[in-house]
Parts: sequence; structure tokens; C-alpha cells
Amino acid sequence: MTGSQKKSTIKAPKGVPDYVPPTSAAFVAVRDAITAAARNAGYGHIELPIFEDTTLFARGVGESTDVVSKEMYTFEDRGGRSVTLRPEGTAGVMRAVIEHGLDRGQLPVKASYAGPFFRYERPQAGRYRQLQQVGIEAIGVDDPALDAEVIAVADQAFRSLGLTGFRLELTSLGDDSCRPEYRQRLQEFLSGLDLDEATRERARINPLRVLDDKRPEVRAQLENAPLMLDHLSDESAEHFSSVRAHLDALGVAYEINPRMVRGLDYYTKTTFEFVHDGLGAQSGIGGGGRYDGLMAQLGGQDLSGIGFGIGVDRTVLALEAEGIDPTVTGRVDVFGVALGSAAKAVLVPLLGQFRRDGIRADMAYGDRGLKGAFKAADRSGTSVTIVIGEDELAAGTAVVKNMADGEQHPVPLDSVVDHVRGLLDG
Ligand code: HAM
Repeated sequence: MTGSQKKSTIKAPKGVPDYVPPTSAAFVAVRDAITAAARNAGYGHIELPIFEDTTLFARGVGESTDVVSKEMYTFEDRGGRSVTLRPEGTAGVMRAVIEHGLDRGQLPVKASYAGPFFRYERPQAGRYRQLQQVGIEAIGVDDPALDAEVIAVADQAFRSLGLTGFRLELTSLGDDSCRPEYRQRLQEFLSGLDLDEATRERARINPLRVLDDKRPEVRAQLENAPLMLDHLSDESAEHFSSVRAHLDALGVAYEINPRMVRGLDYYTKTTFEFVHDGLGAQSGIGGGGRYDGLMAQLGGQDLSGIGFGIGVDRTVLALEAEGIDPTVTGRVDVFGVALGSAAKAVLVPLLGQFRRDGIRADMAYGDRGLKGAFKAADRSGTSVTIVIGEDELAAGTAVVKNMADGEQHPVPLDSVVDHVRGLLDG
């Protein structure tokens, strides 16, 4: 090659997003916020291999799933072993829990992870071949309160980022004592319908998946299809109603979607998906559920488990759709604005009091005037702004403004900290 010949440029593989500065800051902020919600509920970090023995996913995720049958990055390493880039995190966590005997210690084992996963899907907006998740798994205790906790952690993670345009869909897929019978009932129903060959085949291998068919001509025929929720065993029904009661008590809103179909085979009982309406076709920003047979399936004890995987890429897109910059939101809890040096002399020690009380506080420094100071407050992403001007100084008060609803009131200086804490907790 001569020096004048230009080499072709190399691009990232198809369907693989890069996150580069300055926009990568949003990606990091989202990943950290989800991880923080998990830490807050006692989930410890677990760091797992990016590739595993192929058998782990074939056995754990299920041979009949698209993920295993069509989407895995599987190759032989130089030693002739079949390895696979991890398409999801749950099977790997379970493998590590069994291998390290964590299931012999304190239960539930509560672990959270973050990183890339690989699926050979058809790339489109929000659907990538290298996707990023933060996930949590709680293994070893079948308690509906734990299902509610896992769901509430995801809900809190989204809310802590300021997201509001999402819904939680919930259902129960039953267990071994009721699903086989239901499956047969559904298969019988499907065999009486006018379906094409490919759909008939799907009905034979995994009839539940047919319920998710989006084509109007199929949907119309499915209107009277039997639903798992109507055929739960007493134990599964009770479990589900208890999960719902715990969610109600936690103030986590949900919709029941009895036709939900998940792409992985290990789910039992509680199953859920978080859906964002601003994302078009790839609207699932997170999903998960209970997987009570998985540990035994992988050669371990017969222990239960529940968890979720949140899509970091899609959560970043959801924030963009809502016009929220996660690098700004939540940097501080309180932002102070003082008009004049006498007011500043009161504000500075007040800020110190906030910080000693564990409330993140900042203020407008320098003399930028009212407009500049309020702009700085906006940029900080603060939840509460407090303003001390001449009138407030004379009255011994500060104006406290709740940025969520714009409401503001004068509050006596000696009760400002308590008042603000009330707003932050509420
Ligand atoms: P999943 O529903 O397959 O569940 O994936 C979880 C989330 O990852 C999805 O809701 C979505 O936000 C994101 N995601 C999946 N595929 C893609 C893709 N191709 N491009 C972008 N984002 C994607 C699991 O993986 C389970 N392991 C979750 C779980 C944990 N269940 C129990 N414990």
C-alpha cells in the first residue's frame, strides 16, 4: 500500500451503541441511579463473566426461546469449548450462587449487577445487539413481600431519575401445579382457530407466546382464549393477591396484564414489565419476575428466586423522551438564593445545618443578580429552593419553594430545615 492510499474507516459493529462524552454522562447517571436504588434495599454487588459455558443458557433460559435458539453469540474458543456471550444475567447469577455456595448462607441472597449483554436481534431504535442492564436477584426465599420489594426497587429507580411516563404491568404465570393443565387447555383452544402454519407450530412449542400475537386477525380470534390468571392454583392465587396487597401498601401503582409474555422460559408466579409510552415499539424499559425452578434446573438446591433487569439504554431514551437531563436532576436537595450580603450571612450557616443533617445543599455564589441565581437553581436540579431577601431578613423568614409543584411559602428561619425535610420525605 502506498502512503497516498486512504484506509477505509472502521465502525462499531452493527447494532452496538457507543456512549461518548458529553452524552455518556447521562448513561452513567442512569446506571448509577438504578444501582443506588438496589443498594438502598440491601443488594450487594456481583461481578460476573461476560461469557459462560453455552449449556448454562441453553438449560437456564430455555432452548425454545428466541434468545437461545436465534440470538446467542456462541463460538468455540481455542480449546474447543462452546462458550456464549451472556444474553442475560439471571442464569449467570444463579450459576455463581451455586458455585460459591452462597445459598448455604444467609437467605435471601441479594445481588445486583450492571453491564453489557448480547443478543443477535434485528437492530432498530432502542433494540441493540449489545444492550446494557442493571439487574437485581433475590434468591432463596419465596415470600410475596420480597416480590413487592424487587418491583418497588425498580419503580423507585425510575422515579429517582424523575421519570413519570411509565406503567407497571403485572401478572402471575402460576407454577408447576397449575401451568401444565392450563397449557393444555390453551393448546386445545388454539387448535380450533384458523392460524397459519408458523403460528400453529408456535402453539405446539410454546402456546403462551401466541397470546402475544399483535396481528389483528389473530387478536380477534384470541378474545375468548383461556387466561392463566383464571386458572391459578389456590397457592399461586393467594401468592399473587399478597404481592398486590404489598404493592398497594408501598404505593406502587400497577395494571394487571393477563396476556403478558416474557421472552425467557424460567418465569413462575409473579411476572412484570415496566413500559414507557414515549418509546415506540421497543417500549419495555425493564422486566422480571419469579423463577422458582431455575436453581434446581441448574443442578443446585430447589430454591426460589425473583429479580429484574432494567434496560439502561432504553431508560436513557425514556429520559430523553420526557426531556429530562439525568446529569442535572438530583445533584442537590436544596438550593439557596440570598439577595444582598446580610441575607447571605444568614444563608451560609443555614446551608451548613442542612449538610450536617445529611441534606445535599448548594447556593448561588458570587453576585450574579436574581436572574442568574435562579438559573443556577434550575440547573442544579434541586428539589427545593430557598430565597432570603430584604423582606424575609426583616421578618426572620425564608421563602421555601417546592420545585415539584411550584408552591412557595415563607417559613420561620428556625424551622426551615424541618420544613424542607418534610417536603423531601413527602
Ligand atoms: P429481559 O426482559 O429480556 O429480561 O430484559 C430486561 C430489559 O433489558 C428489557 O426490559 C429491556 O429494557 C432491556 N433489553 C432487552 N433486550 C434489549 C435490546 N436488544 N436492546 C436494548 N435493550 C434491551 C432479562 O434479561 C431478565 N434476566 C430479567 C430478570 C432478572 N428476570 C429475573 N431476574
